[in-house]
Amino acid sequence: MFVFTTVNDLQHFISSHASKHRIGFVPTMGALHAGHLSLINASKHNHELTVCSIFVNPTQFNNPSDLEKYPRTLSQDLKLLAETGCDVVFTPEPEQLYGSDIQAQIYDYGEIMNSFEGAFRPGHFNGVITVVKKLFEAVKPDAAYFGSKDLQQCMVVSQLIKREFPNLKLHIMPTIREENGLAMSSRNTRLSDTEKILATGLYKAMNNAAENIKNEVDINAAINAAAYKYLNNPLFKIEYFNLINTENFNVANAIQPNCNYAIIIACWCGEVRLIDNLPLVET
Ligand code: PAF
Repeated sequence: MFVFTTVNDLQHFISSHASKHRIGFVPTMGALHAGHLSLINASKHNHELTVCSIFVNPTQFNNPSDLEKYPRTLSQDLKLLAETGCDVVFTPEPEQLYGSDIQAQIYDYGEIMNSFEGAFRPGHFNGVITVVKKLFEAVKPDAAYFGSKDLQQCMVVSQLIKREFPNLKLHIMPTIREENGLAMSSRNTRLSDTEKILATGLYKAMNNAAENIKNEVDINAAINAAAYKYLNNPLFKIEYFNLINTENFNVANAIQPNCNYAIIIACWCGEVRLIDNLPLVET
């Protein structure tokens, strides 16, 4: 496995391989778990060369203490990537990507950037687009792999690709969960053992709401009942819990035929902000 810390070294390597090998790319912020490794495996299955980046991107954190507390486990990450058979790891310092001006560019992709995560984390998606664009330019991949746990991020990245990287294929991969349903997330390492068990309430609440919606209970009533049943604990602070149309991320107050929906949730569990989603599958 090759590990590069500078854009120059990475590009030198990439340019000598790009003509012979198709490149799959997995951007991450490290603290890797089985969800990330499933993206690496998918890329390895489809491409001759898999590149993973590990970079805790400062411009996508609207809260300085969240950035400071974000888990950093580089040596363990490199070990996991080597075991999984990743070919190249790119671990730049911020200056490599941003120079001396560590700032996000401002983008306007419409409502998709301003609702939900965009509303609760102002500037977050500008930071994500800025860094993903820089990483795509550095790695020049044929395809990129993102986890659907960050569903809104996937939509925003899909817009970036449509607008600026039309030849790049986006693979959105399923959320990987613990046996008890908790979605894998780097942030889970910050939960206490008790919080980890309580946090399964998010998955239970989404499933309960989905069941009730399918049984034609009014959508708001279904969501409120699920929140009351599974998240009624002072440890939880719900930021949003909604049914959305996955084409445009608009809140859905009724189910229309031939549309795709998902339940999305953001909820604080103690000091840790968790997000998750569940597609509404017709049965
Ligand atoms: O999902 C993440 O880990 C980050 O938002 C990403 C895509 C690596 C950009 O920093």
